[in-house]
Amino acid sequence: MKIVTTIADVRATVKAWRQAGETVGFVPTMGFLHEGHASLISRAVAENDHVVVSTFVNPTQFGPTEDLDAYPRDEARDAALCESIGADIMFRPDPAEMYDNPKVSVVVKDMNEHLCGLSRPIHFHGVCTVVTKLFNIVTPDTAYFGEKDAQQLAIIRKMVADLNMPLKIVGCPIVREADGLAKSSRNTYLSPAEREAALCLSRSIFYGRDHIAVGMAAKELETAMEDIIVKEPLAKIEYVKVVDALTMDDVTIIDRPVLVAMAVYIGKTRLIDNFSFDPNVSKQ
Ligand code: PAF
Repeated sequence: MKIVTTIADVRATVKAWRQAGETVGFVPTMGFLHEGHASLISRAVAENDHVVVSTFVNPTQFGPTEDLDAYPRDEARDAALCESIGADIMFRPDPAEMYDNPKVSVVVKDMNEHLCGLSRPIHFHGVCTVVTKLFNIVTPDTAYFGEKDAQQLAIIRKMVADLNMPLKIVGCPIVREADGLAKSSRNTYLSPAEREAALCLSRSIFYGRDHIAVGMAAKELETAMEDIIVKEPLAKIEYVKVVDALTMDDVTIIDRPVLVAMAVYIGKTRLIDNFSFDPNVSKQ
């Protein structure tokens, strides 16, 4: 496996693969890889001739008071994981390689004005812009994203459809710790007491998953799920919301495919979790 830091090097390697008629899978990440990322890379390796993993910590998706500088990084561990799963390239450019006085930003309207977009107003502009750039650099056949960032995945699907980007987007299921906590690079910020407290998210998610029903009022489910979280003194709810799975708009009655999503602070650490429900698919 090669660690590549320049756009020109990625392009040259991918060009050679393409000339040989080989397929390219792409897993965009911000590094500090965990089993959730490993599941994306494994799937990409299983489904493509070659796989590129990017580990660029994208500054443009962090707000001015967010954790860009503190964001955890471990290039050697990331490279070892990518190599062990069978990725061909780990692309880790410097910010200067990716951004040179940029004047273009990719914005998917409306969908970013819900859920995480309310407290992180520039976040999805930064995500869409960097993902567009990465797609243009890597030119993958298929790109793999985690369903834990469900709003991000929905927005990227819409961006790819609206801009006729010539690739397939695959969403992969949330990977959880044995006790239920969704895997996240930010879990490393948690103290032992906060790590225990963070289980209120998955407890609430599992409750919601078990109790959601067609025709139910969205507010009733949101309140019941919030009640589980407020019992935890270290937790502070940013939102617990039922939204339309495609548009991210609020719903009143659960009568269509929905995303049930939450963002909760445990101490200073902001964690997200979610599940999806489709009335047309019977529950497992
Ligand atoms: O999900 C992430 O890790 C990031 O938002 C992404 C898609 C790699 C863009 O920086």
